[in-house]
Amino acid sequence: MTDRLTIFQTTVDHYLAPIKSYLDDSRVSEVMVNHANEIYIERDGKLERTDAVFPDQEVYEAAVNNILQFTGKTLSGEQVLIDSRLPDGSRVHVAKEPCARHGTVMTIRKFNKMMLDVDWLIQLGSLSPQAAEFLKIMIRAERNMLVAGGTSSGKTSLLNALSAYIPTGERIVVIEDSAELQLQQDHVISMEAQRPDRFGRGGVGIRELFRSSLRLRPDRIIIGEVRGGEALDMIQAMTSGHGGSMGTLHANNPYDALNRLETMALMSKVDLPLHALRSQVSSALDVMVQASRHVGGTRRVVQISEVLPMTDDGRYALRDLFTLQPDPEDPEGKAMQLTWTGERSACADTLRTTERQDVTELTAPIFEPSA
Ligand SMILES: Nc1ncnc2c1ncn2[C@@H]1O[C@H](COP(=O)(O)OP(=O)(O)OP(=O)(O)O)[C@@H](O)[C@H]1O
Ligand SMILES: [Mg+2]
Repeated sequence: MTDRLTIFQTTVDHYLAPIKSYLDDSRVSEVMVNHANEIYIERDGKLERTDAVFPDQEVYEAAVNNILQFTGKTLSGEQVLIDSRLPDGSRVHVAKEPCARHGTVMTIRKFNKMMLDVDWLIQLGSLSPQAAEFLKIMIRAERNMLVAGGTSSGKTSLLNALSAYIPTGERIVVIEDSAELQLQQDHVISMEAQRPDRFGRGGVGIRELFRSSLRLRPDRIIIGEVRGGEALDMIQAMTSGHGGSMGTLHANNPYDALNRLETMALMSKVDLPLHALRSQVSSALDVMVQASRHVGGTRRVVQISEVLPMTDDGRYALRDLFTLQPDPEDPEGKAMQLTWTGERSACADTLRTTERQDVTELTAPIFEPSA
């Protein structure tokens, strides 16, 4: 650690002493301080209220301010929603009054040192071996893919795990609002958005980063989370030959995800008829992966669909390749597992010979070329 980081860590240890045991507990993934005397954690995937307390609300708010100041975040009266990070990479979000109506709220999403990999996701039952192989083929064949899901459904973890399938030797540009992804490849350029200072200067948004990334000669672009006008640039880049791009977005199902992309693209005051935009969205995206969070804290992929060309009457069309179906081995028929629907991939006939090398016995039926 550099000196600065050591001092920062000491500051955190001191000011966050009441919650330090949770920050150090590897089973805890999130610490949520609603109020000085109302602190929740997520441990082993379950939400629990703790009996930890800060001495009083003033001490707690001063602690938060001290930590934020250390990260170089300007604390003006106007800034009420602040994203930051602790020395170990944990992500901190702070909401202050008047937005947070009962005083400062802080959530700390702990940096997961043991980032989940695909094998582990399979062991957890979050992904099936066949689905994982299918996604591997699509990634290696440079198809464009988005992971959709609700809040904390495991989108970023899944994207991170899947990124291991990107062949080494490619130049990957990663764009994030707050750096979370940890790609294992050697040739990675990581870009992080910057908030403006209190005079409104120096802010750099995801959209600007995306535009800049196109000039960095990327082989692939990964957007941590698509949430604004960058959707239009991304769609246009995807349709103009930037294959293999990946990202996440908030959506409840793959249709919803396409509609959200369309709405976000419209936020950039695009001068494009809706019909043309939809057609672009349809041709830009190839695969949608839906993640979901279940009771008890499990996260799993619940659907994988391919995006087909827009229908004649201007609607999105999807082909579901994997869905949750009852597990035949469960005697009670209650357990569900991610299962191939029996539909062939829309890419079956367009996979190049080199790309077919990744097709194994397990995925052969999905990619069986038409006779
Ligand atoms: N398959 C999984 N099984 C169990 N826990 C998981 C799984 N995937 C992710 N998690 C845990 O769930 C939490 C949320 O994961 P992640 O940040 O990937 O979700 P997200 O959908 O990207 O969240 P956000 O909406 O904040 O962007 C993390 O603590 C992570 O370690
Ligand atoms: Mg995320």
